[in-house]
Amino acid sequence: MNQPCFVTGGSGFIGQHLLALLTSKGHSVSVLMRRPHSLPALREQIEQLGGRGDLLTAVAGDLGLPGLGLDATAREQVRHAAVVFHLGVQFAWGLSQAQARQVNVEGAIQVAELAAQQGSRLLMVGGFMLANHGHLQRIGVNLQHPEQTDWDRLYRRSGAYEGSKLEAHFRVRARMAELQAPLTLVHPATVCGHSRSGHILPAQPLAELIDNLAEGRLGAIPGSAAHWLPLVSVDFLAELMLAAAFDEQQVGQEILALDAATPNLQGMLQQLARTLSVQAPSRHLPIPLLRVLLKIPGVPRLLHTDAESLDFIQTTRFDTAATQALVQRHQLHWPDIGQALQATARYLVNEPSAVQG
Ligand SMILES: NC(=O)c1ccc[n+]([C@@H]2O[C@H](COP(=O)([O-])OP(=O)(O)OC[C@H]3O[C@@H](n4cnc5c(N)ncnc54)[C@H](OP(=O)(O)O)[C@@H]3O)[C@@H](O)[C@H]2O)c1
Repeated sequence: MNQPCFVTGGSGFIGQHLLALLTSKGHSVSVLMRRPHSLPALREQIEQLGGRGDLLTAVAGDLGLPGLGLDATAREQVRHAAVVFHLGVQFAWGLSQAQARQVNVEGAIQVAELAAQQGSRLLMVGGFMLANHGHLQRIGVNLQHPEQTDWDRLYRRSGAYEGSKLEAHFRVRARMAELQAPLTLVHPATVCGHSRSGHILPAQPLAELIDNLAEGRLGAIPGSAAHWLPLVSVDFLAELMLAAAFDEQQVGQEILALDAATPNLQGMLQQLARTLSVQAPSRHLPIPLLRVLLKIPGVPRLLHTDAESLDFIQTTRFDTAATQALVQRHQLHWPDIGQALQATARYLVNEPSAVQG
């Protein structure tokens, strides 16, 4: 397999593991980069993760610019991509609506249009919240007519990051349908480190949670015994993306990348605490109470928690039948999520640079 690919967000956490897997299988990959001079460092990192740095080339561009900031040479460079993987995102809690929309929504639509124009398959990464229809309805998404959703209201309710991810999903899906262009969607749960090495980047939500636990800043377990934070390990997520991207049967499909064996939040914190040799919290703090507390100025900083992150902790169980079918068809094997969690905690403790950022 050596079909050329174009990847946005290749320098990010999931992107790095996807680049390592794609190049290890012989695919040449053009990577959209805001800082193309960082290509040598990215190549080195991809080699360390088991990929081939020599198969990577940088394409200068920016999701926030008109035409993605691509010049004619860059467009020519990506023109033959069999698959465009869209992972680039501006991720932070507390983003402004305008910032989030420009990069995460308008940028995604431009990537989709580029893929459609040049006849590439688009594999876009969404998020597992998109598979929780009850939640989507509660926060105001009109599932029958997404274009009638009051997005401004939804951004105010859910925060700009989640709002922009949801809006991007529905608008890209509609645009690709209009252009009759092939689209596959992969919706990851919260991403855990590599199942064996534990590799993770410090800005990842799970790394921040582990850091809070390690530093004794997690006095209580958010939610009840029924609450969980569904996870997927980054290496398995990359495998699912690769399998889905080149499988004709997955055109028009949505894949939920979520390990149903993830323990509840209490069990997960206990496992992590054991690995970190710290005390796990045992009391529960109801989510609605936590949400009220986090509205008090200064409290999010004090608790090292942001209200925007609470929606990801939930009681819903998901239907992963379509994912299991893909896993079986491609003979993939779910790694043990408990071991992946422990490896992630060990990685963060042993890599001082990872915790410092
Ligand atoms: N991590 C999770 O737990 C999780 C869970 C569900 C879904 N997802 C989704 O998975 C995808 C990848 O997530 P991630 O965690 O790997 O993200 P990440 O580590 O935060 O990486 C973000 C990537 O986007 C790039 N980027 C940001 N702004 C850009 C811009 N204006 N133009 C071009 N590139 C830009 C960054 O490049 P620079 O090097 O230039 O900064 C980086 O490569 C996203 O769609 C995210 O929403 C992630």
